[in-house]
Amino acid sequence: MSSDLKSGKLDPNWFDACALNSQYNARLLEEWHTGRTLAKAAARKLYRRIFRPGSKYVPAVAYNGLLVFARPDVNGGGLWFAPDFSRALLHFGIGKCKRIFDFCAGPGYIGFFLLGSGFCESVALSDINPEVIAMARHTIAYNGIEHLADVYTSDVLEQIPAGERWDLVVANSPVVPSYEVKRANIIDYDLTGHLHERFYASVKKFMNPGGFVLTLHTRRDSSVEFFRPMIEAGGGRVIDSIIRKDFRGCESDRYYLLSQW
Ligand SMILES: C[S@@+](CC[C@H](N)C(=O)[O-])C[C@H]1O[C@@H](n2cnc3c(N)ncnc32)[C@H](O)[C@@H]1O
Repeated sequence: MSSDLKSGKLDPNWFDACALNSQYNARLLEEWHTGRTLAKAAARKLYRRIFRPGSKYVPAVAYNGLLVFARPDVNGGGLWFAPDFSRALLHFGIGKCKRIFDFCAGPGYIGFFLLGSGFCESVALSDINPEVIAMARHTIAYNGIEHLADVYTSDVLEQIPAGERWDLVVANSPVVPSYEVKRANIIDYDLTGHLHERFYASVKKFMNPGGFVLTLHTRRDSSVEFFRPMIEAGGGRVIDSIIRKDFRGCESDRYYLLSQW
């Protein structure tokens, strides 16, 4: 069933949430703005483009007052489901900790959400794409949280400073696709097939003893048994997994995997 705002028949799964989101934006433009306000907004945008070329990122979302800057083309899903990480953490009985690391962070939706929601005292983020790291730096500077957040451009964990220590790692990482990929990109797909193996092989040295790694994956592309050997080879152990559900209890196409280190 597809989303249908008018009939009120919404299929409560992930893809429909995305559809709903874009329809909502369309309605905002159509119904809540006059031609005049839209023209003013367009003129402001043009002015910023011409006279302040440095401010090319737009505020994407605010988490408890923490404004996160990004661009639509770098959203790997975290924009929508970062808050759901808190439900997964509460489900597993994981409360506030000292330092969280957001792996494959993109612009940092998940890490900044957890920082803004009080799940940690400080956060570290990394991604291989220097462009998204520049966005995360912009978020840090704009919010004045240099003392609470560190960001690194890193291929998996290779460029992470040796002194980093984490109590919790969260990740919404690219999938190893179980189907033929038509448009390859590193946001959605790990075409090397080794990203997670490399991650689990190197994460232990950064973990405080007993720390957790919570990752989100697609059900059609992997299962706990796909990751278990990598986790055990790296010195961790699988604790549990849960299917991601919406607030009504409807299952989505994703699952969380929790391991301890
Ligand atoms: C699915 S997106 C998720 C982004 C963000 N966590 C979110 O939820 O929107 C995956 C991210 O992994 C990054 N990535 C891909 N390969 C990587 C690698 N070898 N090392 C670190 N990050 C990588 C991509 O640049 C992309 O930002």
